[in-house]
Amino acid sequence: MSKHNKKDKFPLRTEILALTPAEQHTAICEYIHSSLVQSFADKHTQLDYGNFCTVIEELGIQADDVNAATDTLFKNFKKDFNIHFYYFEEKIESINGLALVVNKNIIDLFSPPSSELASKPFFSEKYWPWKMGNVEKNIDKSNEDITFVLSCPRSGSTIFRLILAAHPQLFSPPELHLLPFNSMGSRAEEINKNGFEWMKFGVAEALMEAEGIKRKEALKAVNTMAANDMPVVDVYRHLQEKIGDRVLVDKTPFYSCHPQWLKRAATMFPKAKFIFLTRHPVGMINSFVKLRLKELTHNSFGCYSENPWHLGEKWWLTGNKNINDFVESLSKPRSLFLRYEDLVSDTHSSMSDVCNFMNVPFNEKILNPYAETDKNTTKGIGDPNIMNHSTIDASMADSWKTQNLPHPLSSQSIELANQLGYHFDV
Ligand code: A3P
Repeated sequence: MSKHNKKDKFPLRTEILALTPAEQHTAICEYIHSSLVQSFADKHTQLDYGNFCTVIEELGIQADDVNAATDTLFKNFKKDFNIHFYYFEEKIESINGLALVVNKNIIDLFSPPSSELASKPFFSEKYWPWKMGNVEKNIDKSNEDITFVLSCPRSGSTIFRLILAAHPQLFSPPELHLLPFNSMGSRAEEINKNGFEWMKFGVAEALMEAEGIKRKEALKAVNTMAANDMPVVDVYRHLQEKIGDRVLVDKTPFYSCHPQWLKRAATMFPKAKFIFLTRHPVGMINSFVKLRLKELTHNSFGCYSENPWHLGEKWWLTGNKNINDFVESLSKPRSLFLRYEDLVSDTHSSMSDVCNFMNVPFNEKILNPYAETDKNTTKGIGDPNIMNHSTIDASMADSWKTQNLPHPLSSQSIELANQLGYHFDV
């Protein structure tokens, strides 16, 4: 073993990157093989490189054991390579196949070749999982107070949600994913058809918290809402009824993907307030790529690129532009602008502005969101790494300063970033 740099948190990854392509593949196959052998230590030690699942089945190893072994493997990928795998990637059933995916990701994420500008268009209706339809038609309205946190994914929205959730007069559950749909029936249909299971759980988690019910009961309630094709505005109403005087906050970064979804929020809730949370493009794009959001979103939602870095920029530009255009179309007192970097580096001042805007008194509890938050409420859909921190981490404001992009940002991104208060030379 070579001597590693003490600061290198992922020496194995560094070691693999130093090998030739053929050696990399062999090393990763061996790594996966040895992790599986450890998992099945007392059952079998000779796993086939071609198709380990068939071999496992033939040996009579239980499906639960296979799942546990895959789980361990994914945890090891995170620990040794800092690569996040998603549950649906369990379908990769051979060591060779999995090694190819891991190898490609180690290179794409941590040693990407330089590339040209991201291709245009940045956004196209062509890359979309479902038809928009006419969302403004027959839209039912609610006069309730509600605040929407609008941001691109990976812009610090989960820590912001936890900060808000720590305020006794606010109710800020995990991502609801309601606005893209007219009713719970069509929502369930699209989620199932597209394999976006992760969109499902926020409503159930909100019900668990609002009604003090167990997960099973909450999931049953969500299924009943779908079976009855409940309009989404009634789901909001139901939650608002259950939380009493507290103000509902819906932070769902995916709303920023489509201007119609944003417009729908304003039409459905004429009294709604909007907080525009943004982040430095270099920080957001790095975060987007490292969490492999390309895989989670199946490369749809209006932006497309095979290059994860280009896709990250497309999401940053599209989302921030959609939100910026939307808030500019509103009357001034309905929106507040907030930068992630300010939120984490000067939380007191940023949150004073937020509380003022939301018309609630400042409360010291919001400065210590992890102490105020029930462990369960941190589990919901959002940043899976939220518990890597235990306080609001001010140093994260500067993370982009030590990060790079393998391609130059487009002039459109630079222009918008400058407009949002980041400083780029044009
Ligand atoms: P990195 O991936 O750059 O670390 P979102 O919640 O919108 O997905 O945003 C995720 C980003 O918020 C992550 O960025 C994460 O580190 C950051 N974040 C999460 N918890 C934080 C905390 N306690 N303090 C500061 N930043 C935090």
